[in-house]
Amino acid sequence: MTKHTLRAAIIGPGGIARGAHAPYYIKDNRTELVAAVSRTYEKAAAFARDFEIPAAYDCVDTMLEEQKPDMVSVCTPNKFHREMVLKALKAGCHVLCEKPPAMTAGEAEEMEEAAEAADRLLIYSFHHRYNLQTQILKKAIYSGDLGAIYHTNVQAMRRRGIPGWGVFTSKELQGGGPLIDVGVHMLDLALYLTGYPEPVEVMGATHKRIGNRKGVGLLGEWDPEQYTVEDLASGMVKFQNGMSMMIESSFAANQKEEESLNVRLLGDKGGAETSPFRLYEERYGSLFDSAPAYLEKTDSRSSYERQLVHFVDCCLGESEPLAKPEDGTKVQRIIQGLYESSAKSGSVSLI
Ligand SMILES: NC(=O)c1ccc[n+]([C@@H]2O[C@H](COP(=O)([O-])OP(=O)(O)OC[C@H]3O[C@@H](n4cnc5c(N)ncnc54)[C@H](O)[C@@H]3O)[C@@H](O)[C@H]2O)c1
Repeated sequence: MTKHTLRAAIIGPGGIARGAHAPYYIKDNRTELVAAVSRTYEKAAAFARDFEIPAAYDCVDTMLEEQKPDMVSVCTPNKFHREMVLKALKAGCHVLCEKPPAMTAGEAEEMEEAAEAADRLLIYSFHHRYNLQTQILKKAIYSGDLGAIYHTNVQAMRRRGIPGWGVFTSKELQGGGPLIDVGVHMLDLALYLTGYPEPVEVMGATHKRIGNRKGVGLLGEWDPEQYTVEDLASGMVKFQNGMSMMIESSFAANQKEEESLNVRLLGDKGGAETSPFRLYEERYGSLFDSAPAYLEKTDSRSSYERQLVHFVDCCLGESEPLAKPEDGTKVQRIIQGLYESSAKSGSVSLI
């Protein structure tokens, strides 16, 4: 162990903690996983055993008090993000919080203020930012290749992808359905690429047409009795700088593609799409399509691993965070506005 070893803890040791956070903390020799916290000691202990973590807890306060971690991953269902993030920040930890930031814009704002007051890092897990193509596209936009971006399309659509496990279909625990769960990734990506303009007005619509009947999909069988979220959300967002955005997100839609996760950017000099990654550039009086000849060969790490390495870099003061807490608050304001607009069948002002 070097003197730089950071003590890391995981709160909410479920699917994403198991698949991403724990393995990458273990892989990074600058961090040491010291504790896992779950609702029950048994769950925390099982996780701790699997990843050879020395301590397990059923109480976050006790863990923070006894272990004094430097950094914490919050991987609980969305309902508990705020509580866990506030506690960890207050205890002096840097925090990597799973997406979405919170259940509401008010909660995200409170979390942003707490990070500021504690002078600790709060990074939300928007890992698509760390894709190699995202970083290339960001450079292209920064160097003016697209000109002024005046419209974006945000798509996070699944054909039959209602999760048959976990709490993703519970409004009480997650705050909503596909919009807050998968739409949030593409929404953040579009906003990140366009410099996080200020949203001023939203108009949204949500539908529950498939999740409320019995069915089996690509992610298992869901229970219509427990299905309390939308299965499709769509909307329009207008921004202070004149940019417009169309968004659509579904867990289940009668469409051809199994899954379409894409951001399309339309600029007055060029355009781009993230999946498949393409640049459309005006040249010699025509429009050219271009795509990188190679990409993944330059770096075999997943975007998730790059995000975790970046988090550690930032905790060590070796890098500036790519994701700011205020970005999370803005994303949450748009999502809340879209849900409110749908509920009242009218547009919602965000200013
Ligand atoms: N970044 C991504 O692409 C991505 C992917 C999947 C999930 N997520 C996010 O990660 C979070 C968790 O999702 P998941 O799929 O791992 O869910 P999960 O249900 O598999 O895991 C959640 C874990 O939290 C524990 N938990 C519940 N309440 C708790 C509490 N009060 N205190 C401590 N632990 C508690 C549960 O016992 C479980 O172990 C969600 O916010 C989700 O949106 C992000």
